[in-house]
Amino acid sequence: MEIGIGLFGLGTVGSGVVKILQQNANQITQRTGSHLVVRHAVVHNLNKPRTGFTQDFPITDNPEDILSNDDIQIVVEVMGGVDYAYDIIKRALMAKKHVVTANKDLIASRGQELAELANQNGVDLYYEAAVAGGVPILRTLSSSFTADEISRVAGIINGTSNFILTQMAANGLTYAEALKLAQDKGFAESDPTNDVEGFDAAYKLIILSNFSFGVQPVMDDVTVTGIANLTDSDINDAHGFGYAIKLLGVAQRVGDALSIEVAPHLVSFNHPLATVNNENNAVLVNGESVGEVMLYGPGAGEMPTANSVLSDLTNVATNLALNTPGRPFNTFNQDLDLAKPSQRVARRFIVVEVADTPGAMYSVTGMFASAKISFTDLKQTPAKNGFARLVALTHAASDAQLNVIRTTIRNADGINLAAEYKIFS
Ligand code: HSE
Repeated sequence: MEIGIGLFGLGTVGSGVVKILQQNANQITQRTGSHLVVRHAVVHNLNKPRTGFTQDFPITDNPEDILSNDDIQIVVEVMGGVDYAYDIIKRALMAKKHVVTANKDLIASRGQELAELANQNGVDLYYEAAVAGGVPILRTLSSSFTADEISRVAGIINGTSNFILTQMAANGLTYAEALKLAQDKGFAESDPTNDVEGFDAAYKLIILSNFSFGVQPVMDDVTVTGIANLTDSDINDAHGFGYAIKLLGVAQRVGDALSIEVAPHLVSFNHPLATVNNENNAVLVNGESVGEVMLYGPGAGEMPTANSVLSDLTNVATNLALNTPGRPFNTFNQDLDLAKPSQRVARRFIVVEVADTPGAMYSVTGMFASAKISFTDLKQTPAKNGFARLVALTHAASDAQLNVIRTTIRNADGINLAAEYKIFS
């Protein structure tokens, strides 16, 4: 059987998809029983040079060339953006075409609606490439954790920010130099704000939460802190205590509720997540039965992300051969409340800048004592400009306690909360 594919987008990921389809055609046919053929590509910019594959299909800029083409059964959307992509995917589903997309922004915000539309039309909607690039986490969650109760899904799910943090920590690059390098290597989104401010990771964490906990959070349900305010000093001080700083997405059960957060965390050098460097991603899944599993691999880039798109395409092909399309990618659904600040408890890394005067340390420790936050480690580095830098690790404290400290410090003179990160355990 021949299955026609229409590609929206022929940039980094789209080109990778064509290359794999062409280079591994025989293997794909052997494994799926079908011959997957690109019949058309629609792009924004017709003049962009495209190399690395045989262009044996037309490229135009008119969506109808794919949407009204009866020889195309699967639409692959790898152009990004939300509004136009939404319109294209919706029309493709209504035309009873299967859809494969890498669009995490869209799936995180309107995935449920699109999944219902796919279901009504009896077609597949898959998006393995939307989360963690080449790491096959969504299919693993839906097929290998079907019977386990997941208590936490956590990990490094933005390659660009992990690349920046690695280059700053290991090679002494500045933040701006590392970001530029990530962009040159093709890891970053076209606007890297979402990468460094944590929103790209938050979209992925929303999708991971759909699959792991059956919930449908919106962006406002996720507490998001990016890496743009992290300093060399924070990284060096964390190192001194035996920790790397990593931007983590963490969704975890706390009692009957769920906490969903993206933020820089301290990760012990002994933890496997601390060894995940550059654009690599890793997702850690804690299940009541399985214990802990970690999937590790490239979180961005042309061929790894294209491989995840291919995983979706071959699954559609298999479903077509078995005559079983139309089953939602994620079928898990339940209601969970969002965790309250008092339920979000962790050890902390706290940096306070304080006027270097007698009694300053006394007043700082007094503030933390009032909030019932207890230090485990404390370090003061030599004063600069009349200020001292106090770096503390604490015993477990809740977000509610940290909110008390924030307010107290904001209202006090000569003291500034320079950094506050959770310690991952
Ligand atoms: N910009 C994303 C990242 C690409 O850096 O992880 C994959 O989603």
